Amino acid sequence: MYRRSHSLKMRFSTAFLLAFGVATSSPAVRAQANYQPSSANLEARRWFEAAKFGLFIHWGAYSVLGDGEWVMNNRRITVEEYEKLPAFFNPTEFAPAEWVALAKAAGMKYITITSKHHDGFAMFATKQSDWNIVDRTPYRKDVLKMLADECHRQGIKLFFYHSQLDWHNPNYYPRGRTGRETGRPESGDWTQYLDYMDGQLRELLTNYGEIGGIWFDGMWDKPEADWRLATTYKLIHDLQPQTLIGSNHHHAPFPGEDFQMFEKDLPGQNTAGFNQTAVISNQLPLETCETMNNSWGFNIADSHYKSTRQLIQYLVRAAGYDANFLLNVGPMPNGKIQPEFVTRLREMGEWLARYGESVYGTRGGPLTPRSWGVTTQRGNKVYVHILDWQDSSLALPALPGKVKSAHFLKDGSHAEIADTAGGLVLQIPPSARDDFDTVAVLELGER
Ligand code: GLC
Repeated sequence: MYRRSHSLKMRFSTAFLLAFGVATSSPAVRAQANYQPSSANLEARRWFEAAKFGLFIHWGAYSVLGDGEWVMNNRRITVEEYEKLPAFFNPTEFAPAEWVALAKAAGMKYITITSKHHDGFAMFATKQSDWNIVDRTPYRKDVLKMLADECHRQGIKLFFYHSQLDWHNPNYYPRGRTGRETGRPESGDWTQYLDYMDGQLRELLTNYGEIGGIWFDGMWDKPEADWRLATTYKLIHDLQPQTLIGSNHHHAPFPGEDFQMFEKDLPGQNTAGFNQTAVISNQLPLETCETMNNSWGFNIADSHYKSTRQLIQYLVRAAGYDANFLLNVGPMPNGKIQPEFVTRLREMGEWLARYGESVYGTRGGPLTPRSWGVTTQRGNKVYVHILDWQDSSLALPALPGKVKSAHFLKDGSHAEIADTAGGLVLQIPPSARDDFDTVAVLELGER
């Protein structure tokens, strides 16, 4: 019944990895085998767990076509054709101060932006090749540098999403499952590709100030390849020991990774078909990412927006699962974030301004998530988040401590709660209800 800290979560074991089809002898799993996180890294993990809410940004040359970040692969655009695209990417309306201010108004504590997506196009001033925003677009500016400076100025952490998969670089060879119709020569030097990637990562961790994390994606394209993770992870941790490494490989975390992520699913769930893993008990922070409509990169025809209510409830559920919520926007090619996203972010921020104490700095609460909602916890306070419950009372199992006092977060009004041998019964008067999340705060004492 109880979630006893992390003890019920699965152990990071060889048997576990084998069960999910990862050969334990493979270089990927060995990764940064003897990695000992620095104290700065451990501190960054604690910060990350408390932060709870981040802004994901998918932005690149693909945004021009308004058809998502997979457009090159999906429309079978060759490298030669795709190379015409950056000439049309001129985000003259890009105002990094506004983006950062919007993230802060939404109650977000960090931003994770695409430094390079699968199209290989670097959104920063890389010297590793001229396939980048400065050399190929009329805009000619390093948008990551502009954003990094603004993040540091406004006190929000910056993470880089970096695609290991590359549909443009000829040395991404042998090819993986995707990007096979780009017209590249059927030859290439994989080691040179990895050197190129490490070169770009060195730049990202050297020229942009303090970096909160590197969010890798794309290993799933070539699961059998030697990704040389030991070298890459060591490079990152040597350059900036506090930088948190995570990878969207959809497996249990490999040694050297500092957090575990779930794509479009709450931890341990697999509704999207990506996540074959349970939560791993090596005490790593958790993060789940989701789109605001159904697209990561700007998609002009996608108006399947989730409601503010759905988004707030997702954030709260994630917190109940002990995970952060990384919520995506795909800015437009002119550099603006579309109004449908802005409205929702501001509304989430308004809710968090009132209810934030039940989310920030909490951990998953003493009860595992329920169909009616979740619990979060900080010290001796348990926050009962009632997300979906019609009736005027709610029965809960007994908690680890006796309920000393109870109130509703909405208005501070006293909450009636009967602490019986069989468990707790909480009364929910209509006046205490909140459209998004009715939060009861229970203060626990000794049993
Ligand atoms: C997937 C997609 C990618 C997206 C990512 C975000 O891996 O390939 O386009 O960036 O998920 O979670």
